[in-house]
Amino acid sequence: MVLLSKITEDAIVDNLKKRYMDDYIFTYIGPVLISVNPFKQMPYFTDREIELYQGAAQYENPPHIYALTDNMYRNMMIDGENQCVIISGESGAGKTVAAKYIMGYISKVSGGGSKVQHVKEIILQSNPLLEAFGNAKTVRNNNSSRFGKYFEIQFSRGGEPDGGKISNFLLEKSRVVSQNENERNFHIYYQLIEGASAQQREALGIMTPDYYYYLNQSGTYKVDGTNDSKDFQETMEAMQVIGIPGDIQTQVLQIVAGILHLGNISFIEAGNYGQVESTDLLAFPAYLLGIDPNRLQDKLTSRKMDSKWGGKSESINVTLNQEQANYTRDALAKALYARLFDYLVESINKAIQKPHEEFSIGVLDIYGFEIFQRNGFEQFCINFVNEKLQQIFIELTLKAEQEEYVQEGIKWTPIEYFNNKIVCDLIENKLNPPGIMSVLDDVCATMHAKGEGADGTLLQKLQAAVGTHEHFNSWNSGFVIHHYAGKVSNFIRSLFPENLNTDKKARPTTAGSKIKKQANDLVNTLMKCTPHYIRCIKPNETKRPKDWEESRVRHQVEYLGLRENIRVRRAGFAYRRLFSKFLMRYAILTAETWPCWRGPEQQGVLHLLRSVNMDNDQYQMGRTKVFVKNPESLFLLEEMRERKFDTFARIIQKAWRKFIARKKYEQMREEASDILYNSKERRKNSINRNFVGDYLGLEQRPELRQFLAKRERVDFADSVNKFDRRFKSIKRDLILTPKGIYLIGREKVKKGPEKGQIKEVLKRKMEFGSISSVSLSTRQDDFFVLHEAQYDSLLESNFKTEFLSLLSKRYEEVTKRKLTISFGDRLEFRVKKEGWGGGGTRIVVFQKGPGDLAQLKPGGKTLSVTIGDGLPKSSSSLYHRTAGLLLKHTFRSLSSVHQNGGAKFPRGPHNPQADITYSSPQKQGRPLQGGPPKLGSQRGPRPPAPNQYNQRNLDFLNVPDQGMKQRKRSITQRPPPAPKPQPRPQGPRCRALYQYVGQDTDEISFEVNDVFDLVKEDASGWWTGRIGGKEGLFPGNYVEKI
Ligand SMILES: Nc1ncnc2c1ncn2[C@@H]1O[C@H](COP(=O)(O)OP(=O)(O)OP(=O)(O)O)[C@@H](O)[C@H]1O
Ligand SMILES: [Mg+2]
Repeated sequence: MVLLSKITEDAIVDNLKKRYMDDYIFTYIGPVLISVNPFKQMPYFTDREIELYQGAAQYENPPHIYALTDNMYRNMMIDGENQCVIISGESGAGKTVAAKYIMGYISKVSGGGSKVQHVKEIILQSNPLLEAFGNAKTVRNNNSSRFGKYFEIQFSRGGEPDGGKISNFLLEKSRVVSQNENERNFHIYYQLIEGASAQQREALGIMTPDYYYYLNQSGTYKVDGTNDSKDFQETMEAMQVIGIPGDIQTQVLQIVAGILHLGNISFIEAGNYGQVESTDLLAFPAYLLGIDPNRLQDKLTSRKMDSKWGGKSESINVTLNQEQANYTRDALAKALYARLFDYLVESINKAIQKPHEEFSIGVLDIYGFEIFQRNGFEQFCINFVNEKLQQIFIELTLKAEQEEYVQEGIKWTPIEYFNNKIVCDLIENKLNPPGIMSVLDDVCATMHAKGEGADGTLLQKLQAAVGTHEHFNSWNSGFVIHHYAGKVSNFIRSLFPENLNTDKKARPTTAGSKIKKQANDLVNTLMKCTPHYIRCIKPNETKRPKDWEESRVRHQVEYLGLRENIRVRRAGFAYRRLFSKFLMRYAILTAETWPCWRGPEQQGVLHLLRSVNMDNDQYQMGRTKVFVKNPESLFLLEEMRERKFDTFARIIQKAWRKFIARKKYEQMREEASDILYNSKERRKNSINRNFVGDYLGLEQRPELRQFLAKRERVDFADSVNKFDRRFKSIKRDLILTPKGIYLIGREKVKKGPEKGQIKEVLKRKMEFGSISSVSLSTRQDDFFVLHEAQYDSLLESNFKTEFLSLLSKRYEEVTKRKLTISFGDRLEFRVKKEGWGGGGTRIVVFQKGPGDLAQLKPGGKTLSVTIGDGLPKSSSSLYHRTAGLLLKHTFRSLSSVHQNGGAKFPRGPHNPQADITYSSPQKQGRPLQGGPPKLGSQRGPRPPAPNQYNQRNLDFLNVPDQGMKQRKRSITQRPPPAPKPQPRPQGPRCRALYQYVGQDTDEISFEVNDVFDLVKEDASGWWTGRIGGKEGLFPGNYVEKI
């Protein structure tokens, strides 16, 4: 957020909202993490993220609490410094959840043997235990922490969490005896009532919750989404893991139940004295707490007091009135509960304590700043502690920032911000003027015996001490403190009742001074660590996801000082980075810095800054870091970097895609050859032809696409000849998709407005399931019969091999059967039944004849096809064999086919040395492209994919694989240069099937469809041709003779 171009509260709130609505709950202000409570489980807390954030730099991944945690962990290990994270935010903002994510992350990323595992387990189990006893449903949060905790996870030098320590503060004891409407007591009570076994119920006198005065005042017993019974099992399990023995566990539950029963003891007024209303009710709590019922009664209705009479001090028992008795009962309940809580914390500490501390990460999760209708002493304290935390946040963020500028020798002007030290002083100052706590102490010490008069005295004294303070106001029954987060009215009556009844001989430490000490100890502890901050924001009071209450968020943004935070962060410079890091990040921008800069780092950084023409006033060079002033300037760098990456990425991507496509086609071609291998003779030019798939260009043919579904993929499309019952041929567009085969024809429209126009019609659609087989001849012709359930189709296509290969693949995918392909020179096909005389079968017979083109002779029900010999049945794609050798063989066999008419291609072992010489003296001056070809046996491993990424050669969709041929051909196979070109009479001519680019001065070049003179055919495959007056060599299989 430091990079926001405008820093107003509006802009901050807007930014947070946008992110929140897009499910990004985390945002950074520099190193500070802002976390907005999503009120739903986010998907980015899995092991995947734990992996992602481990060891990654902050800017590499989206903001995350894992990033902050990882950063702490690494700082600790690398710098050998203790770390702490202060999690702040109001009640229900997500502090406790955040703390748990931190613990979870640490326990996942750190290693350790069984002892460490045990410590980890206890650390994790401490959460359900302390939450059961220390959390409660409030109006603001169903699982509100009613105590503060600072959890130090201690590590060995190797970074294993092998110990820990919890400090707890400010348990909200008043909750034990009374709760506001819609709130509950601590969870443990309801857990026990719901989850106890029958035996436990009996032993502990468990009734329904409404039976107990300490639970029934608010009338709220259930919490949405909470299963108290299940949680009870978890709590007990946690006690087990922590190592609390079984009998102690029982005692813990006895105290919990004992407090409930204690609460049911009520008093009546009898002659100005309080008396237990029903002595029957004394028995159960006395039993559970292990005390004598009479003694319990005495203690509840009387108290021991010290008094001084004429220099003599005496201890006397004073009988209490009804109100005082009620108060004493509650005080006992609260004290019992607080000690129980302390005991649990202690037990955890004992289980994980280490003899000596090494490193630690502290997590501070206290209960947030809060304002109630009536704010008592506990709110006063908690708000004070929050005030103190805000203070360290302000001090440390500012200080750290300032120190950095000083260290780096950067000029900067301090920025205005609200320093809440003034509020802290108002509360905790000792003297000049004394703060509220001092006044409170003073009044307690001198007034406690007087009771009633204390209120007025306190107010007077406060007025005298801090009456003119701008953050203080008083009224007749209380005073207002203007905290950083809002104004809080504190009621005198509920402010410090406990203090007025302190029962100690010596002057007591007041609760006020205790909390002051605790707060300051905490601050000192925190100050010794490297601090990190998480500022939690609560977006609504409905606890619903995606519910954004603007004014609430704005308020928090204001009092958390986010604007100031950003300001301070940007006061001088929005961005700073170590020279080395900067160089690394932007190295790609210039040739001089890529892959690494040679020379002083600082010079390299300057070089980069200048390469993007950054204004001089936009940056400063510190001693080790470069500081960039405005986010826009940083964006400039980032954008250039992105662009560079983008360009390079595109180049790589393009090359990769071509490579992949090429590989795929090569594979397809191989598979296709496999289908026909040993079964059918091949056409000369088909073996090494690249596959295109869609020869009709369906993308631009809506009239054809109309028959397909919207995004139906086209595997193959070509115009084919279809033969009818009388063997008359007609053009059809054949389309193969994952759904089946389409045959599209054209017909004249007979009726309607389009009458007379020629329109595309779907003539036939065959699903894979209904296709039974395909049959072909063994000769080099292009016929094939698609056998289908109803009737068969006799088709002819130049690209039958490609089609068949794609068809058999799809067929197998869909039907889970292999497509039957049969070969024979007498093919039978069933024709469609149409009216009278329809149906029946037709025969196609294939015979040897002259030429490479099929001659058709229909005769009744038989069609005879004659055609010359093609390449041997055993011809296969070049890619089946090691390139260097096979080209020659192909050429050889080509010539042998032509010369001998059907000579079989040798497939036996072959001695490569026998007929290859890689250089001839005359040719030595000419370097072979790509180095000498590899030697290999004929059936050797498949050659690697061609790697010549000459753009021109990459037009693999319509050119054959030149690269291979050009590179691997054997030079000695060439015939000697032709004698001087002579003008020739019109002789044989040929048409180029593919483009060829001559690679040497004695070669010619041509484009597809160029027609030129064929001067000489040669057995080596290197023919001589004449084009544009130039005579030269070219590969014979690039052309067809005409
Ligand atoms: N990151 C989160 N993902 C999902 N839900 C969350 C997250 N953070 C908080 N919540 C929801 O909000 C509730 C309140 O959060 P949490 O108890 O952490 O608040 P808190 O800040 O600790 O409040 P308090 O000061 O009252 O203890 C949680 O019980 C949970 O339902
Ligand atoms: Mg909490």
